[in-house]
Amino acid sequence: MALWGGRFSQGPAESVAALSRSVHFDWVLAPYDIRVNIAHVKGLQESGILSEVDGEKIMIALTALGEEIDAGTFLPIDSDEDVHSAIERGLTSRLGPLGGAFRAGRSRNDLVVTDFKLYLIDHMIAIGSAVTLLIEEFTTKADEYKSAIAPGFTHLQHAQPINFGHELAKHSQALLRDLSRIHDWLARNSSSPLGAGALAGSALQPHPENSADELGFSHAHENSIDAVSDRDFVSEALFVFANIGIHLSRIGEEYTLWSTSEFGWAKLDDAFSTGSSIMPQKKNPDIAELARGKSGRLIGNLTSVMVMLKGLPFAYNRDLQEDKEPTFDSVETLLTLLPALTGMVESTEFDTARMARGATAGHALATEIADFLARSGVPFATAHEISGSCVRLAESLGREVHELSDEELSSIDPRLTSEIRSTLNAQGATASRTSIGGTSTSSIIKQIHSMKERNQRFIDFFDSQRSNFLEMIQV
Ligand code: ARG
Repeated sequence: MALWGGRFSQGPAESVAALSRSVHFDWVLAPYDIRVNIAHVKGLQESGILSEVDGEKIMIALTALGEEIDAGTFLPIDSDEDVHSAIERGLTSRLGPLGGAFRAGRSRNDLVVTDFKLYLIDHMIAIGSAVTLLIEEFTTKADEYKSAIAPGFTHLQHAQPINFGHELAKHSQALLRDLSRIHDWLARNSSSPLGAGALAGSALQPHPENSADELGFSHAHENSIDAVSDRDFVSEALFVFANIGIHLSRIGEEYTLWSTSEFGWAKLDDAFSTGSSIMPQKKNPDIAELARGKSGRLIGNLTSVMVMLKGLPFAYNRDLQEDKEPTFDSVETLLTLLPALTGMVESTEFDTARMARGATAGHALATEIADFLARSGVPFATAHEISGSCVRLAESLGREVHELSDEELSSIDPRLTSEIRSTLNAQGATASRTSIGGTSTSSIIKQIHSMKERNQRFIDFFDSQRSNFLEMIQV
């Protein structure tokens, strides 16, 4: 059903209808559209454009339509241009001409952006909650492996020994930053565009602040032109989603690597890995790989919306319809990926003996020699040189640097006394890094405590946001 036929002598060509049709993807906005229309009708009652009785009739019909939409018994048809047209058709079929009265003073321009903002608020909260569950798993695992010695890498080369819990905890840290971005996004995007009309505001609905309040927004948008043309909240959300995607991708990369035979660290659970149709022995890390692969579309969706926006004149342009599919795709992608990845992280076990065996390989304790000398007053550059000579000697003897004897060490520099032995081993080396952010078990325990506290604050925040939202969206 078209909402704009009056000045045209004929309907759009079939090809044009096919091009401009969006109902096959924007139908997910239907529950929000019902809610926003109800808020608008209340405004029209307040201003006297609709009588109490007519307003009531329309709201009852909208509520009934909303129930049918939930139940899947009212669906869009081919001739509906978009979700808004479909809902007006449903209303008109119930109320006759009164079904068209409810859109006085509002345009699809302010309607669509209000619907979409509500959709994103709703799904931001859902994604935030799903991320808290993943953080919980990483934090639990960090605790489990807080004293498991493992090689630490830079440039993917053995660098220094670490406690493996520290390695896992870093993912919680990154994801906590994503949550703080979601928190900020929710705070920043709490203005209601409803009442902006097509672009100039509405003469028939003089109190947009009341509908803002009704819809759970903290205030009405201050500029009606900006209200209908702003899609910062979309690109910003897509950045948040893409960044989560990048984190999940890097997690995926690590698990893929750790589960290779060469590493042999990670033992993926059968329920969270897949087999090969030809090689019976295979157990593949497909979830980790999909996490890595899906970051491509999350970044692509952000790019596509930013490029679509960059040349647009202000106020509404039809290009803006292109904001939805990438957003729906990013939301669906994360809501599918996060639970699977969380399950994989929860169920993966690590071979601590194997990790520990590799912890000192590649002269990973050379820094301990330099640190030991620096502690006894040797300038670090000199200490570094001396440690380098130890590595050279060890290499020429086909040994690791910590395998040099006391005599061999003191022959390189007499200040390398046997006292060095307390830190010239993986246990001592990790235990000595007790500062905030260090890899010692005691530092990891403090880190876990702080992460748990922060995650809990987000869990409480999302829970309260969700219950506010549900209360608001209830019709
Ligand atoms: N389907 C459109 C969108 O998503 C709704 C707004 C249409 N407005 C208009 N002036 N044609 O943006």
